[in-house]
Amino acid sequence: MCGIVGYVGEKNATPIIIDGLQRLEYRGYDSAGVAVFQEGEIRLRRDVGKLNNLRTRLAADPITGGIGIGHTRWATHGVPAEHNAHPHISMDGEFVVVHNGIVENYLELRDELQAEGVEFKSETDTEVIVQLVARFAANGAQGDLTEATRKAVSYLRGAHAIVVMSKRQPDRLVAVRIGNAGGVALGLGDGENFIASDIPAILEQTRKMIFLETRQMATVWADHVDVQTLDGKTLHPEIHDVAWDPVSAAKGEYKHFMQKEIFEQARSITDTIRGRVDFEHETVILGDLDLTPQQAQDIQRIVTVACGTSYYSGLVGKFYIENLARVNVEVDYGSEYRYRNPILNDKTAVLAITQSGETVDTLAAMEEARDKGAQLWSIVNAIGSQAMRIADGYITMNAGPEIGVASTKAFTSSIVDQYLLALYLGQQRGTLPEALRRQHVHDLARLPDLVGRVLDRSAEVEALAHKLYQYTDFLYLGRGINYPIALEGALKLKEISYIHAEGYPAGEMKHGPIALIDEHMPVLAIALKDSVYDKMISQIEQAKARGGIVIAIATEGDTFIGTKADHVLYIPQAPEMLTPILAVIPLQLLAYSVAVARGADVDQPRNLAKSVTVE
Ligand code: M6R
Repeated sequence: MCGIVGYVGEKNATPIIIDGLQRLEYRGYDSAGVAVFQEGEIRLRRDVGKLNNLRTRLAADPITGGIGIGHTRWATHGVPAEHNAHPHISMDGEFVVVHNGIVENYLELRDELQAEGVEFKSETDTEVIVQLVARFAANGAQGDLTEATRKAVSYLRGAHAIVVMSKRQPDRLVAVRIGNAGGVALGLGDGENFIASDIPAILEQTRKMIFLETRQMATVWADHVDVQTLDGKTLHPEIHDVAWDPVSAAKGEYKHFMQKEIFEQARSITDTIRGRVDFEHETVILGDLDLTPQQAQDIQRIVTVACGTSYYSGLVGKFYIENLARVNVEVDYGSEYRYRNPILNDKTAVLAITQSGETVDTLAAMEEARDKGAQLWSIVNAIGSQAMRIADGYITMNAGPEIGVASTKAFTSSIVDQYLLALYLGQQRGTLPEALRRQHVHDLARLPDLVGRVLDRSAEVEALAHKLYQYTDFLYLGRGINYPIALEGALKLKEISYIHAEGYPAGEMKHGPIALIDEHMPVLAIALKDSVYDKMISQIEQAKARGGIVIAIATEGDTFIGTKADHVLYIPQAPEMLTPILAVIPLQLLAYSVAVARGADVDQPRNLAKSVTVE
C-alpha cells in the first residue's frame, strides 16, 4: 500500500509532498520519507511509523527546495526501519528513488552490483534501482536522468511504479510505470507539475492529469512533461479533467469501482504478500497467526467456512493446504455449517474467509466452532471487523477498500493469503521440502507481474463481451485447481449482468448440464496447459459436438486450442498453483464488460449488498 508523491515547481516541495502523502494515509504504511534538492545536494529525511514522526523530524531539521519526491512504505523486503524507508539514494549520492512494486530479480542484481563495488545501505529490493540508475548515468547515458532510468528499468523483472530525481539535473523528475504495481498520475499545474501513485494525493493541487500506461515513462519539468514509451517513442497522451467530487475522484480513470478494483489487482496482491515473505531467506512469516512448529503439527484438520465468492476462494485454498501442508481440509458454506451439528475438537482449526468480516452466516459458523472447542482463524479484508476480533489468529487480505458489490480483488487476495498459509503450515509442520518452499516463494514474487500481463490483454476480453452480451445462459467449466474459478466466473456474471450462468467441475458436465448445451449456450472452459489439459480438451469437444459456442481460457503459446474453441482468451504461462489467480481475471473482466454492454448498474447490482448481515 505504498504511496508516491513528487513535485517540481517554484514552491517549497516538502509541505506539498507531505500533504500528498497524508492523503494516502488510508492505504496504510509503516514508514515514510522525503528527498528534496537543496543548495546543490539531495537532502533526505526518513522515519518509521506515522507521518507525524517525519513531520517532527522535518520541523527540527527542515529541508526546502523546488523539487522533491516522497513515499509512504509498507515493507516487502527488509523490516520497517529508517534505513529501509524510501527514498533510497545511490552510493554516489547523485540519484534518489521511490518505488512501488517488487523487483523479482533483486538478489541477482544486488550481487552483480556488489561485485562492481557498490555498497548497499538497506535490505530493500528498491535500492538496486537507484544503484542501477547511477551505474548507467556514469556509463552510457552521459549523466542524463531519463536515459539512465530507461536503461536501469530494462534490467528489472516485475511490475513497478518508480520516480527518480537527480542531483545533476535538478530541474526534472523521471517517472516510470511497468505493469500494474499501481498507477502513475502526472498532475499538470501552472508552472509546476506533480506526480502521484494515487489521484487523491494531488487532487487539491490540480484536476488536469495524465495517467501513464504500462511501459511508459515521463520526464517532468516545472513547465512541461515529455511522455514516451520505454522504447523511446514520444507520445501525446490524453489529458484528463478529473472531477472534484470524492466518489468520482476515488474512481480516478475508471468508470466503475469494480473496474478499478479489477485493475488494482497486481498492486493489491503485492500488498497481500508484503511483510509476509522474507525474500532473502525465502520463508513465510504470518505474525498474526504465529504458530509454533508443535502447534502447527498438532492440527489434524482444517474446516474452511465462508459464503459466496469467499467460499470459492476456500475451495482453491483446499488445494494449496492439502498439497503443501498435508492437512486435510473441508470447505463448508457458512450458511449451512451450524445446521448439521459438525464434529469439531481442539485439533481442528476453523478458517473463516470473509472480505467484510461481518457476514452473519460466516460469523455464526465461527461461533459454532468456538462453542465446540475448535481453534478459530480468519482471513479478512476489513480491519477491525468482527471476524478478525473473535478469531484466535488472523491473516488480513490487505486488498484495500473494496467498494464494488461484486468481489474481485478481495477474492484474489484471499487466495494469496491461503497460499501463504499453506506455505507457512508446510514450513512449520516440516511437510514442505526446503527447495520446494523456495520455489514457491519465487513464484509468489512473480505473481504481481503475471497479473499485470493478464490485465494488459483486457481489450481482447472487452471485444469478446460485445459478441456475447445478448446470450441469456452460460455454462462455466473448470477442472482441478481451476474448477472453483469456473464457479466464481459464473457467479460474477450472474451478479452484475443478471444473466443465468452455471459453474461446474468439468467432469460433471456429462452428468446433467450437458443436456442444456446447444447453439444458444456459450460454454466457457478453463483449459490451461496443466495436469488436466487433455481432459478439458475432451470436454470442449463434447460441448462443440452439441453445438455449443466454446470460449477457452488458455495458456499463451497454445495454438492447438484455437482449432477446438470458437474464442480464446490467453493468460501467461505460470506455475499451476498460481493459475486460479490469473484465470479468474479474464472472467471478472468478461462479467464486467458484458454488464456494461447490457447497461447494468455494475457497482450496485440489484438485490445484493456488500456485507450480508442478515440471515
Ligand atoms: O464479506 P464476505 O466475503 O463474507 O461476503 C461473502 C459473500 O456475500 C460475497 O462474496 C458475495 O458472494 C459477493 N457479492 C461476491 O461478489
